[in-house]
Amino acid sequence: MSLVRPDLIGLPSVVHGSVSAAELAAFGVAPSDVLDFSVNTNPLGVAPSVLEAIAHTNWTRYPGDDEPALREAIGRHAGVSSEHVVLGNGSVELIWLIALVCVRSGDAVAVARATFGEYARAARVAGAEVVDLQQIDHARLAFVCNPNNPDGSYLTSEKITHLAQRVNGVLAVDEAYASFAPERWNSAPLLDRGNVVVLRSMTKDHALPGLRLGYVLAPPALAHVLESVRPPWSVNAGALRAGLAALEPAAQAHLGRAHRVVQDARRVLIDGFQALGYSVRDSHANFVLVNVGDGAAFRRALLPLGLVVRDCASFGLPSFIRVACKQPAECRRLLSAVAETALATR
Ligand SMILES: Cc1ncc(COP(=O)(O)O)c(C=O)c1O
Repeated sequence: MSLVRPDLIGLPSVVHGSVSAAELAAFGVAPSDVLDFSVNTNPLGVAPSVLEAIAHTNWTRYPGDDEPALREAIGRHAGVSSEHVVLGNGSVELIWLIALVCVRSGDAVAVARATFGEYARAARVAGAEVVDLQQIDHARLAFVCNPNNPDGSYLTSEKITHLAQRVNGVLAVDEAYASFAPERWNSAPLLDRGNVVVLRSMTKDHALPGLRLGYVLAPPALAHVLESVRPPWSVNAGALRAGLAALEPAAQAHLGRAHRVVQDARRVLIDGFQALGYSVRDSHANFVLVNVGDGAAFRRALLPLGLVVRDCASFGLPSFIRVACKQPAECRRLLSAVAETALATR
């Protein structure tokens, strides 16, 4: 008798961006010398006011008592009541919780072909069959990444509403990168439909991927079940402090400046790669997808220079790389390196 669920044996892990110290060491590059374009976070880093709030965290208490204040603040920020808000250890925890709560073994979960890999993994762990988004009409749950990772495409409110009408259950709209969309629309009113949940990540907006903080907006009945299944204290005391500070005017102004930097950087990257002869898709996110012929070879060629891009093979797009919109000067440094090393991998 197998001690574990046989369908979970050999479940592949999901490839994410970033680079390991071991991989850098092989090229003699120190982590502190790296410009990492494979992680899509706020190019200005953490707001000083958020760092200060984290520094004043009381780590000696369990953090549960501090959660209602952050749920209230997020609710005010999003224009919904706090009963709609569930906090998570990064939005990824909530992706998993949604799958566990909404799916029964054997149900279909619809996921786009090239998108963030954790939707399919969470669905499989919940015992679901993963189907293409085209088959949404039969799905108990569908995940849509908006803007999409890795291509930066952004569906309109009409398109999302149409998907919510078609799905045979819940539509989860992941807005991890929506804050960087130049023409962002407000998805919160979709909660009134009763079958839409909206995921948001505070780690991208506030450059805190190591701290872990995300939330989901959900109809109150669904939010209540998500909350009852969530492990206790999954959001640590520092993340709760950071979340409150991130919604204050000082950090929001910092985020506003980051939006303008991303807008400039996106233009620099698109124009720069196109000038070098590469085809680049227009993007509504804080990253761009570039067709370089062989993404893995391209990434390998840049690593010894301390420049890291995301090879998109794990998205099923082996000829592409994804490049984060960092500060324009940093983007220009990447483009010069690409031009100088004549990455003839097309
Ligand atoms: C589309 C998407 N959603 C969610 C996440 C997870 O974000 P968090 O750090 O909030 O867990 C990522 C991280 O790469 C992502 O790309």
